Amino acid sequence: MEEHYRIFEEKGRAAEAGGGAEKIAKIHKAGRMTARERIQTLLDARTFVEMDKLVTHRCSDFGMDKNKIPGDGMVTGYGKIDGRLVFVFAQDFTVFGGTMSRANADKVVKVMDMAMRMGAPVIGLNDSGGARIQEGVESLAGYADIFYRNVMASGVIPQISAILGPCAGGAVYSPAMTDFIFMVRESGYMFVTGPEVIKTVTHEEVTMEELGGAMTHNSKSGVAHFAAENDEQVVLMIRELMSFLPSNNMEDPPTSPCTDDVMRQDEHLQTIVPADPNKPYNMKEIITTVVDNHNFFEVMPHYARNIITGFARLGGKPVGVVANQPDILAGVLDIDSSVKAARFVRFCDCFNIPLVTFVDVPGFLPGTRQEFGGIIKHGAKLLYAFSEATVPKITVITRKAYGGAYDVMSSKHIGGDVNYAFPVAEIAVMGPEGAVNIIYKGKLGEQERTEAVSEYRRTFANPYKAAELGYIDEIIYPRQTRAKLIQALELTQNKSKTNPAKKHGNIPL
Ligand code: HXC
Repeated sequence: MEEHYRIFEEKGRAAEAGGGAEKIAKIHKAGRMTARERIQTLLDARTFVEMDKLVTHRCSDFGMDKNKIPGDGMVTGYGKIDGRLVFVFAQDFTVFGGTMSRANADKVVKVMDMAMRMGAPVIGLNDSGGARIQEGVESLAGYADIFYRNVMASGVIPQISAILGPCAGGAVYSPAMTDFIFMVRESGYMFVTGPEVIKTVTHEEVTMEELGGAMTHNSKSGVAHFAAENDEQVVLMIRELMSFLPSNNMEDPPTSPCTDDVMRQDEHLQTIVPADPNKPYNMKEIITTVVDNHNFFEVMPHYARNIITGFARLGGKPVGVVANQPDILAGVLDIDSSVKAARFVRFCDCFNIPLVTFVDVPGFLPGTRQEFGGIIKHGAKLLYAFSEATVPKITVITRKAYGGAYDVMSSKHIGGDVNYAFPVAEIAVMGPEGAVNIIYKGKLGEQERTEAVSEYRRTFANPYKAAELGYIDEIIYPRQTRAKLIQALELTQNKSKTNPAKKHGNIPL
């Protein structure tokens, strides 16, 4: 009997040792964690259950048959975050550089299939040299099996990716199809072709960090959603994100006890929006003042900063917040901000998270760069996303809501359930100056022009026309915003709305 236990324990220890002490020391020296340490930090203490710990690769080419490590280059299993079931896989860089073997792919496939059956999220911790060269097309087949499951799981269970080391070539497409990508500065990088290939093909010289580092994908490409300083911060951020999400699309997001007064009024809100319509202000001040305990978990904080997206709670219930940011580019809608917000709106709609939209938008950004870049189809994405979303939609117009952008930003007309406006709101086809220039083109002297602008401002640059038509349900004092939003969430909590049955819509891509 003793002998059986000894063999069992020996095999377990061999798996846990991964590629060996030397390789683990190298990872630690670089200030990084091993795959198992990452999982242990991510999950609640003592909840991790490892699966397929003794699986080995099945390759015999290039002498691989003499080089097998139990578990191969992937640690997989399940555990809990805040007491809720999640599935995980983590590439182990100490074993053949965490590369994708057929066996590793099968381990991930098993975890994903199980996660779908159990209705629980999947979190992938990526750190890999990519396709295992010795396994050739078997490795590619393994990737494709994972890609396919990413697509099937999309909108059914939340899928989260962390990039904690290399993630290159076609391997990037699995994280790309998940809901959120976290990256570690200076150690995580993603690219389809690396600096060497780029140099050969286009003669551009670029470092790995410039090409595919955390800040490149967080601020330039918009591929990633979060940047962290190190492995530990990433997994803690993932835990926080998970606290806002349901386990699957059939559940509501988890509520938590609300320790913040639901009727709390803030005088400060009365003066955040400046009287001068051309003066910027920080919309995040409004958001953080209004939400529970001032806690706002921003998504994509470094990208298209003229729109704000993120999660918060109101009366203990998670909400997705979308807000124009008048502090950056006057809060204008452009290609990047439309795409950023559209994807966020669709995520919230997939997972039953009500949308709270704060509007201060002067319109769409003019210019050839925007037009040639396809602002028509990209702006349409946001319009499409808000229109098709059936979750509760609550809108507050804090100041400007001009032109097509008024329609787009969760207006009554595209299904807003409760639409509020502050008394300073301006809801019209365009701003007073532009409107007068068009209506009276070249016909007015300076004095008459000034009078016409004032006349337009009195008549149209206010919320009252929209309120008279029922397009705004209620004009509210800014100080009441929190209580009004929580009331609206209560009103809409049993909302029942379905779109016409179809195979799927055809969002302008
Ligand atoms: C097999 C690999 C490997 C690979 C690395 N290793 N990449 N083994 N297939 N693709 C092995 C190394 O031989 C080494 O083994 C160990 O992993 C660690 O690698 P090092 O080079 O020592 O580490 P480091 O210096 O940190 O460099 C890491 C690296 C580099 C930047 C990832 O190894 C590298 O450039 N690898 C090639 C990456 C690549 O081109 N992959 C294919 C991409 S295309 P030992 O035994 O010495 O520890 C792709 C297509 C996917 O992935 C398509 C999906 C559809």
